[in-house]
Amino acid sequence: MARKPAGTELEGQVAFITGGASGLGAAAAERLAADGAVVVINDLSAEAATETAGRFGGIGYGFDVTDSAAFDAAVDDTVARLGRLDIMVNNAGIAPSNVSSKMQRSIDNAGRRMAGDIASLEPMDTLVDLSDADWDRMIRVHLYGAFHGTRAALRHMTPRRSGSIVNISSILGLMPSAGAPHYSTAKAAIIALTKSVADEVSGLGIRVNAVCPGYIDTPLLTPFSEQMKAAITMRIGMGRMGEPTDIAEMIRFLAGPESKYCTGDVFKVSGGYLG
Ligand SMILES: NC(=O)c1ccc[n+]([C@@H]2O[C@H](COP(=O)([O-])OP(=O)(O)OC[C@H]3O[C@@H](n4cnc5c(N)ncnc54)[C@H](O)[C@@H]3O)[C@@H](O)[C@H]2O)c1
Repeated sequence: MARKPAGTELEGQVAFITGGASGLGAAAAERLAADGAVVVINDLSAEAATETAGRFGGIGYGFDVTDSAAFDAAVDDTVARLGRLDIMVNNAGIAPSNVSSKMQRSIDNAGRRMAGDIASLEPMDTLVDLSDADWDRMIRVHLYGAFHGTRAALRHMTPRRSGSIVNISSILGLMPSAGAPHYSTAKAAIIALTKSVADEVSGLGIRVNAVCPGYIDTPLLTPFSEQMKAAITMRIGMGRMGEPTDIAEMIRFLAGPESKYCTGDVFKVSGGYLG
C-alpha cells in the first residue's frame, strides 16, 4: 500500500481527545492535526476545550468524562457534524491530591533505608488516609473515563470496521508506587481494559493500545516539590523528565497506519525510568 506524503497521513480522519486542553492531550492534538486529522477536544471547561481545539482548526466539548451520557452525546454529535470517528485518545486524568506530603515521607524513608535504619521508617499511611471520595474520583476519572470513551467510540467504529483507540495509562500502571495506590490501580486497570477490548475487536479492523508515560513535565506534576522532582529524575536513565511531545509522537504512531500490526499492546515511554 502506497504511503501518503508526510504530513497528510491522517487527512480526512477525525480524532477525539479527552483532557485535551492541557499537557499530553494538547500535544497529541497538535501532533495529530499536523498530519491532517480534524481534532475534537474534550475537557472539563468548554471554553478551554474550544480554545485549544480552535488553535488546530478543530472543535471542543466541555464535559466530565465520568458522565457517560455527556460523553455519548459529544461523540454522537461529533459524528453527526464531521461524519466519522477514526481515533479516540482516552487521556483525561488527575494527580493524587496528597502526593506531596506522602512523597516527602517516602524520600525521607529512602534515606533511612540507605542508612540501614529500618527501625526508624515512618509509616506512609497512604491507603489508610485515603478517603472514599478520593479513591472513587481517581477510579472514575481514569478507568470509567476510558471505559466511557472506548464504548462511545466502538459504537461508531464497529459498523465501519475501522478505528484506533489509544488509552493513556502510566508507568505506575506497570510499576505501582507506594504513594499513589488509587492512581496505580486505575492505570493498571486501563491496561487490562485495553487488552480485553483489543482481543474482542482485533478481527474487526479496530486497534486498541495503551501508552504508559514515565514522568512528563506537565501541569499534572504541579503538586510535586522540586525535591521530589529531583528524586524522580535521579531514577530516569536519560536524566530528565519527558516533554509532552515525547508522548504525542507515540500517540501519533498508534493512531496512524504505521502501527497497523499493534493491538492489545502496551507502550512504555519513560526515558529509561528505573522504577
Ligand atoms: N504528566 C505525567 O507525568 C504523566 C505520566 C503518566 C501518565 N500521565 C497521564 O497522562 C494523562 C494526561 O495528563 P497530563 O500530564 O497531560 O496532565 P494535565 O493536567 O496537563 O492534563 C490533564 C487534562 O485532563 C483534564 N481533566 C481532568 N479531569 C477530567 C475529567 N473528569 N473530564 C475531562 N477532562 C478532565 C484536565 O482539565 C486537564 O486539562 C493523564 O491521564 C495522566 O494520568 C501523565
